[in-house]
Amino acid sequence: MPGNHRRGASFREAKPIAVLGLGHVGLPTALGLAELGWQVIGADDMAGKVAQLEAGRAPFYEPKIQDLLVKHLASGRFRPTADVESAIAASKVLFVCVGTPQRHSGAPDFGQIEAVARTIARNLNGYKLIVEKSTAPASTAERIKQTIQRYARQDPPAHSRNGRGIPGGKAPGRHPVARFDVASNPEFLQEGKAVENFFHPDRIVIGVESDEARELLEEIYRPLKCPMVVTDLATAELIKHSANAFLSTKISFINMIADLCEAVGADVENVARGLGLDPRIGPHFLSAGVGFGGYCFPKDLRALIHLAEEHDISCGILREVENVNRGRVEVFLDKLRHALWVVQGKTIGVLGLAFQPLTDDIREAPSLRIIEELLKEGANVRLYDPQAMPNVRKLFPEERERIAYCDSAAAVASGAHAVLLVTEWDEFRKLDWAKLRPQMEVPVVVDGRNLLDPSAMCAAGFEYFSVGRPSRQSAFAMAANRRR
Ligand code: UDX
Repeated sequence: MPGNHRRGASFREAKPIAVLGLGHVGLPTALGLAELGWQVIGADDMAGKVAQLEAGRAPFYEPKIQDLLVKHLASGRFRPTADVESAIAASKVLFVCVGTPQRHSGAPDFGQIEAVARTIARNLNGYKLIVEKSTAPASTAERIKQTIQRYARQDPPAHSRNGRGIPGGKAPGRHPVARFDVASNPEFLQEGKAVENFFHPDRIVIGVESDEARELLEEIYRPLKCPMVVTDLATAELIKHSANAFLSTKISFINMIADLCEAVGADVENVARGLGLDPRIGPHFLSAGVGFGGYCFPKDLRALIHLAEEHDISCGILREVENVNRGRVEVFLDKLRHALWVVQGKTIGVLGLAFQPLTDDIREAPSLRIIEELLKEGANVRLYDPQAMPNVRKLFPEERERIAYCDSAAAVASGAHAVLLVTEWDEFRKLDWAKLRPQMEVPVVVDGRNLLDPSAMCAAGFEYFSVGRPSRQSAFAMAANRRR
């Protein structure tokens, strides 16, 4: 992590930075800035979360975040608070990291962003730079600006209503609005790697409308020494949505190719390797599997589709990315149905519930639809994930026989007619699979992330199925099938 060398003493000395919203974007951002040497106030209106943070406990699992939290509570460079207004009043640069949930239609719900803009308007006690970091469709920053302008004019700053700050405690009514700028600075943090991504960004994107805003953001991020894209507000916002839509497209593309590989007997891993060696394509995000999930890709894709359709721009390509992704779970479960013939009454082990490794996040995780489908088909499920089980329990409470939570990956195999690999946690790769086979009722493994080595699984006597690769069955299994 970069050293916290001192720079631009004036700004650094004068005022702290406020980060508004301490979720999966705000907390890594706040602690990252503290590690860079900035004084940071982290504000969130969820008092319970703030109390947890003050007690030195991170509200979600993310590698390295707990250490950073403890370190900067101790260094005094990170102060969590539920008093959003004071945090705003005390700061010059405000990173807006509140949620942008989505309506069913795909339309973004701007409620939280609009509310924080009105709170900022009430606390404009001097020049402020408002930095939109929440993922929001193009033109949101413009809306934030309009909202602050509108509400700022109405009342004197909240902190002056008691007469302090503005000489003579002016009566309510039209008041000069303090200068402010709105900037857009999208984040590209991946869950499970957020702290790493913060300190080693591929690029920093800033959408600004003044030199003052540009200089402040350049100073804040200078220690990171990475390429900076300086542009306008709407372009910066669109870079974020396009980036996620493009990465989603790569994933749906390779998943479509994986199905083709199965049809013609090819191997998608080698296809991906052959593609990825071309720098125009690149090797990343070409891992075929059960599809993408999480809070970002599905939502950002829907938001971009919504934005495009709002402007009558044909976006069939994005709709197809969604369709391919939506179909992955069925393609995956068909492998199981093919292997077991009848799923009803069987015990199915599920390894991996989080939408990806190194997080406890299950939002739009493929595992949820897989569990739902298996239960609907009358199977019993044995579930395990290193981090995400508490979150899944809230949706699928333990139920004798039908839904069991195991305390280890190996325990999932006990009495199972098949084991499904849904999230590519490293510990699953390291499992002693040969030892697991005798515990299983039927040695069927369906690998939805191509995590395991087909020939090793075959040698260990498994009927092994994966994605876009020729399925491998041991001689024993083939003989068993012939007898079936
Ligand atoms: C994503 C973006 O990567 C990040 O830049 C942005 O800020 C937020 O959204 P995140 O959703 O946390 O981050 O995870 P990411 O690692 O991008 O994976 C997204 C989904 O794609 C996961 O479900 C993952 O399993 C899946 N995926 C990823 C694939 O199926 N195949 C791949 O090759 C890569």
